[in-house]
Amino acid sequence: MFLITPIAKVTTDIAVLAWDVSLTLINLVSPKRKVGQVTPHGYAGVDGKWPEFIPAKEGDSRCSCPALNAMANHGILPRDGKNISFKELNHTIRTTYNFAPSFCFFVPNFAANMLKKKYGKDRFDLAELDLHNGIEHDASLLRRDLYFEPNQATIHVPYVKELLESATGKDADGNALLTIPDLSLISSKRRAEARAENPEFSLSKFHKMFGSSNSSTLLTIFGGRVRDLETVLLEERLPEAWESRIREPYGLTLMTFNKTVLKVEKGIDETKFAPAAAASAETTSRSSVQKPTEETS
Ligand code: HEM
Repeated sequence: MFLITPIAKVTTDIAVLAWDVSLTLINLVSPKRKVGQVTPHGYAGVDGKWPEFIPAKEGDSRCSCPALNAMANHGILPRDGKNISFKELNHTIRTTYNFAPSFCFFVPNFAANMLKKKYGKDRFDLAELDLHNGIEHDASLLRRDLYFEPNQATIHVPYVKELLESATGKDADGNALLTIPDLSLISSKRRAEARAENPEFSLSKFHKMFGSSNSSTLLTIFGGRVRDLETVLLEERLPEAWESRIREPYGLTLMTFNKTVLKVEKGIDETKFAPAAAASAETTSRSSVQKPTEETS
């Protein structure tokens, strides 16, 4: 009896991975979607037209994930961020960001298990995703640690600015681009600083990988483009005419995504910042943009 749930979970994970491998292979031999035609017809964002942006108001539920908050701010997810089904999350991240169907099932299914809910029939509010050391963890690139900021929907503006200013890449038109080494370096700094300043700091290997996975979406889905990321990360809004930088017809698979994630994680070296981190922990700026959640507003 007690083995049924773990066995079912492992079987599901194996099936998702097999599905993901086949989608990766199909992507390899399929033509890419044309630039300007990535968002599918009949869905929000087609032809670069996103539904109206309305920032969260008091009582709305928001979370630590800028991509999900942006969807709620555009009404792609419920504008109040509440009562969302995991299936709805699956379908909307597929059409909005062009992650592969395997990823779009895997992560919401993981979130359902994390919240001890049923993927097929239960619902959640965005703020519930901020369960500490579920997916949300210390040393994030956009939020202060939970120890300092209980409302994880709150954007920590100095962190976002530092992240974007750290971009060293350039596209063909000279626009700033975040690169894999940029992301590794800023993640090294965040981890060293958080370790030094947060008396309740924790970051397991598993959550390190989660950290690099979340941040790698900046390089893949958003193509590292700093100008777009300013809007996405500081306003949690999708820029006008924006579309996912993933043009493969079956979207960004776990397998392809993990190539970027592993490079980012491998390049992280906290020791580069360890001596400086304790000193800078004293002087960290505290200016933040407050976002409402049902718990805190
Ligand atoms: C599929 C459902 C998703 C769930 C349940 C989810 C959940 C989360 C959570 C809980 C965090 C906070 C992690 C932390 O503490 O740093 C987070 C961060 C983040 N997520 Fe999501 N997310 C989802 C989809 C996405 C998608 C589709 C994208 C990109 C298009 C994305 C991009 C990000 C980014 C950039 C961060 C910030 C990383 C950082 O601060 O280091 N997420 N997400």
